Amino acid sequence: MPKKSVEDIEVKGKRVLLRVDFNVPLNINTGAISDDSRIRASLPTIKYLVDHKAKVILCSHLGRPEGKVVENLRMAPIARRLSQLMGLPVSTAFDCIGPEVESKVGTLKEGDILVLENLRFHPEEEENDPGFAQKLAKLADIYVNDAFGTAHRAHASTVGVAKYLPAVAGFLMNKELKVMGKLLHNPERPSACLIGGAKVSDKIELLQNLLKKVDVLLVGGGMAATFLKTQGYEVGHSLIEDDKVDLAKKLLQEAEEWRVPFLVPIDAVVAEEIRAGASTRVVPITNIPSGSHIVDIGPQSIKLFCSELAKCRTIMWNGPMGIYEIPQFAQGTRAIASFLCTLNATTIIGGGSSAEVVQAMGLTDKMTHVSTGGGASLRFLEGATLPGVKVLLEKK
Ligand code: 3PG
Repeated sequence: MPKKSVEDIEVKGKRVLLRVDFNVPLNINTGAISDDSRIRASLPTIKYLVDHKAKVILCSHLGRPEGKVVENLRMAPIARRLSQLMGLPVSTAFDCIGPEVESKVGTLKEGDILVLENLRFHPEEEENDPGFAQKLAKLADIYVNDAFGTAHRAHASTVGVAKYLPAVAGFLMNKELKVMGKLLHNPERPSACLIGGAKVSDKIELLQNLLKKVDVLLVGGGMAATFLKTQGYEVGHSLIEDDKVDLAKKLLQEAEEWRVPFLVPIDAVVAEEIRAGASTRVVPITNIPSGSHIVDIGPQSIKLFCSELAKCRTIMWNGPMGIYEIPQFAQGTRAIASFLCTLNATTIIGGGSSAEVVQAMGLTDKMTHVSTGGGASLRFLEGATLPGVKVLLEKK
């Protein structure tokens, strides 16, 4: 059921508490924002509220301060970036609840923007404490959630607050739900999902759900080793999750029952050491040397995956094809990213590391949708109901 949007509620003159996910990556040396995509992604909602003369009170978490004030996780640099992007003044508060914040909110005029301090400086945020949620709610007349990236967390600012205020979705939230909901329920066919990443255990539920929804599944990355092992191949020193071998077997059987082709790499780049500068070679999957690690998919696998993907009208990609953090082992991941943006198909990039790669390669605008949610998009695609979505009002 679609959620009520910010457009379905009168916001003029109202105090609107807008939950955003401004949990952006920060440079560890300088503290500067290294990727502002999440701030940009919520601009349409913020602009709408400003243009429609709401008093806009933004709240977010930043990092994991574990219920204490952590100076380098304050929201001020984010408010400054937002002000640059909006071309408007943005004020900040020293906290996110309490009398001082309330009086600051009291001075807001229509169209003003205030950024509250990091919600997670209070332990009650992650505990979904009702008293804390009520204090947040006291600041506003309406609650808007645009924080898709945090919708898998049942926290005071994503769930608790919706008990006390009319709760609707922002444009980013609704866009994420629409694009990924379509992928699960009525994609343009044929549809494919390409899944990578280090561990099978992180993606079991995802694969289980997807294999009933898509026409072809492709698996690369470190996790492919467990599937290869299951199929009787030697994988050298590659990480195998022994306790997941049975589950991997079951998944392959289920794929067969559902008649969904389940493709794994046919060749690999291997190295004896996982470090930059290590010498590598390409070998067929039938011939992984015993002392080596699989560090990337090989050229034949890239060819195979690309030719399968080229037949599809909808493609979702989640997880790198190799140890992409080391540029030498990132060729498979980069080749897939470059190929996807040449296709005349719906291309959806699940959040997390695949989104990072696409962003770093400057390809974001060439994809249909790059999700702002890492954990949240994973949970959504696993078929879970996200707590932060559940509490929003439904559109009749
Ligand atoms: C994310 O970056 O995935 C979201 O902001 C949620 O952050 P969390 O994993 O710290 O809850």
